[in-house]
Amino acid sequence: MDWSNPGSSDFHIYKDGFHDRLSRYWPEPREQLHSGGWAKTREMVADIKRLMAGGKPGGITRVLDLCCGEGATASFLAAREGWEVTGVELVESAVLVARSRAERYGTFVRVQLDTSAEPQVATASLTAVQVAADVVSAVRVRLSYHPVADLVRIAHASIHYMPLPSNSYDVVYGQDPDGLANENRLFAFREVFRVLRPGGLFYFWHHWIPGPRWPSALLHEYWADPITGSPRLSHECYLEDLRASGLQLVCATDTTALAASHMGAMAERMRREAPAPDGSLPDQWLERALQFAARGGTMGIQVVAFKPPAPSES
Ligand SMILES: C[S@@+](CC[C@H](N)C(=O)[O-])C[C@H]1O[C@@H](n2cnc3c(N)ncnc32)[C@H](O)[C@@H]1O
Repeated sequence: MDWSNPGSSDFHIYKDGFHDRLSRYWPEPREQLHSGGWAKTREMVADIKRLMAGGKPGGITRVLDLCCGEGATASFLAAREGWEVTGVELVESAVLVARSRAERYGTFVRVQLDTSAEPQVATASLTAVQVAADVVSAVRVRLSYHPVADLVRIAHASIHYMPLPSNSYDVVYGQDPDGLANENRLFAFREVFRVLRPGGLFYFWHHWIPGPRWPSALLHEYWADPITGSPRLSHECYLEDLRASGLQLVCATDTTALAASHMGAMAERMRREAPAPDGSLPDQWLERALQFAARGGTMGIQVVAFKPPAPSES
C-alpha cells in the first residue's frame, strides 16, 4: 500500500474512459451515474434537510460530494439550494467535465425576505386582509445573484486522502461512491470524520456491494472470484470500518430493491442493444454480480451517520 495515498489502487480501475464505458448501458441519464438517478437525488436532498433540521443556525452551508463523477449533482445543489459544494473525484476527465458544467450552469438568484422593518401595529378592528397588507408592506425583498461556478469546487483527488480543511463541512454525501469499495475504505471514513464539522451528517448509498447477511462461504467465494473479486467488500465490512472511524451510525439499510431495479434495467438494455446468441451479457461483471446477488439475497448499503457534536453542544 502507498501510505501517502491509501486508495491509490483505484487509479488502475478508475481512469479516463471509465465514465464513457459505464454510461454505455446505464439506465439513468449519464449525468447521474448512480442507481436511482434524479429521483434518488431528490430523495437524498429531502432526507438531508430533514436530518439537519435545527442542526445549526443558518442551516446547511457547505457540503461535500464524495466521488462526484461528472458533477451534475454538485451543480444542481449549488443552483437549487445555494449550498457551497465541493466534489472529490479521481478521474481527471470527469473533473474537467464537472468544472465546465458548473461554469455553464449560469447564475442563480437568491431571494431573501427581510422582515426586520417594523410592521405597522394591527389593531383588533382591522380585518384580516388589512392586517396581511400591513405586514406585507413591511417586508423587503432582497435579490442577490450568484454564479454557480463560484459555489462549486471540484478537487482532483482520492477520497482516501482529501486536500480539504478539517471540521468544515455540514454534510458529506456519496451517491454510489466507488472509492468506498476499496479495501482501505477506513482511510476514507477517517477523512470524512476529519472534514465534517462536529454534529455534521454523513449520508451515502452504494448499491452494488454484497448486502447484509450473506453466508460467510458465499462472501469468500465472491471475494475470491476472478471477476467480482474485491477483498473485504460487504455491508458488514462497511459498518465495521465506519464505526472504527469514530462516526456515529444512526441507521444502515440495504438497497436490494434499488439494486434489483437498476442492475436489472441495465442487463435488459444490454440484451436489447447487444444481444448475444447464448444470451450472455457483454459486461461479465454485471452477469456474475447478478448471479451472486440471486444467491446472497440482499444487495448494497445506505447509511446515515453523524460526527459526534463537540462536548459543549451535546
Ligand atoms: C458509480 S460512479 C458515481 C459518480 C457520481 N457520484 C454520480 O452519481 O454520477 C463512481 C465514481 O467514483 C469515482 N471514484 C472511484 N474511486 C475513487 C476514489 N478513490 N476517489 C475519488 N473518486 C473515486 C469514479 O471515478 C466514479 O466517478
